[in-house]
Amino acid sequence: MTVPVGIVGATGYAGQELVRLLARHPGAALDTAMASDRASSASLPGFDRIWEGPVVPLSVPDLVDRVAAVFLTVPEALAAELGPPLLAAGVRVFDLSGAFRLVDDAERQRWYPESGGALPCQTAYGLAERHRDAIRDARLVACAGCYPTAAILALAPLARQGLVVGPIVIDAKSGISGAGKSPSERTHFSECHDNIEAYGLPAHRHAAEIEQEIGTAVTFVPHLVPLNRGIFETIYAMAAPGVSDEDVARTYTDAYGDAPFVRLRRGRLPEIKDVAYTNFCDIGWHLDPRSQRLVIAACLDNLIKGAAGQAIQNFNIAYGYDERAGLP
Ligand SMILES: NC(=O)c1ccc[n+]([C@@H]2O[C@H](COP(=O)([O-])OP(=O)(O)OC[C@H]3O[C@@H](n4cnc5c(N)ncnc54)[C@H](OP(=O)(O)O)[C@@H]3O)[C@@H](O)[C@H]2O)c1
Repeated sequence: MTVPVGIVGATGYAGQELVRLLARHPGAALDTAMASDRASSASLPGFDRIWEGPVVPLSVPDLVDRVAAVFLTVPEALAAELGPPLLAAGVRVFDLSGAFRLVDDAERQRWYPESGGALPCQTAYGLAERHRDAIRDARLVACAGCYPTAAILALAPLARQGLVVGPIVIDAKSGISGAGKSPSERTHFSECHDNIEAYGLPAHRHAAEIEQEIGTAVTFVPHLVPLNRGIFETIYAMAAPGVSDEDVARTYTDAYGDAPFVRLRRGRLPEIKDVAYTNFCDIGWHLDPRSQRLVIAACLDNLIKGAAGQAIQNFNIAYGYDERAGLP
């Protein structure tokens, strides 16, 4: 039996990845692909022989009539508006935006003011490696952000076990597709090619998401780098006195031994080229025993593990499929 699914935002960067992956998913029947009324599938020749259906303008009544689950991959304000009526109609929602990620109402209203009042009930934070049980029971899955996914996977097991102490610095780099398909002066080729730029200071909303999940404050500095896709984060922390490389390795293995999409690289740092176009997050580290300085690096493909792949991984858990179904 397959689950009839729809995508809202199918013409966007993350939405196009969802179309490609869901069209071949063994447990999903991609029924409906929607975007704004400007959209047309004629402008997406890459869908030929993958998704032959039309991309149609957004219509909530049509979605509710046709599908059991919807992937929302639209700007936050629109996701915040669409989530409640879809849930009320009994549709399960996998939202890729930040609108429902922050559990604390004040934090959510600070960073996502358009996301309105209280979180809908049965909302889960959609990072499979940490919240499998909640995702299985959820009606709304707020899929984890791209930068936070790498940072949380790298830090949460160590922070939870008290293996790191003191300030944590996350130096994060993202390819330009992280900004979506609408061009801006910052993402214009001649602005970002041959350039690296830090942004989001003094505070970035993804820091709130990371802090929510690891339970401690971080310094998070994102950078735009001239790559199409990929996120690379170098994380600087101090290991607690007496913590050894072996302790770090054991803690990661305990956390991710059964996780199909986390690969550990002991004594080596990972590279974007190894995770591009896949749903893997690779994590490597070095602990200097003379100083207890711990350098961790984590990387992923922002459009797959950071967006579409993550949402499908959550869908697989929610519907009882193999967590790897349909994922590269
Ligand atoms: N890019 C990433 O790496 C990434 C990673 C994680 C999460 N996300 C999140 O995923 C969401 C999508 O990101 P993206 O980068 O894919 O954005 P994008 O490339 O800008 O695509 C946005 C999509 O939303 C649709 N849309 C916009 N306004 C609409 C409206 N009023 N009605 C119906 N559809 C509308 C667009 O349709 P048209 O083509 O018709 O304009 C397009 O399909 C965002 O919330 C983003 O924060 C993105």
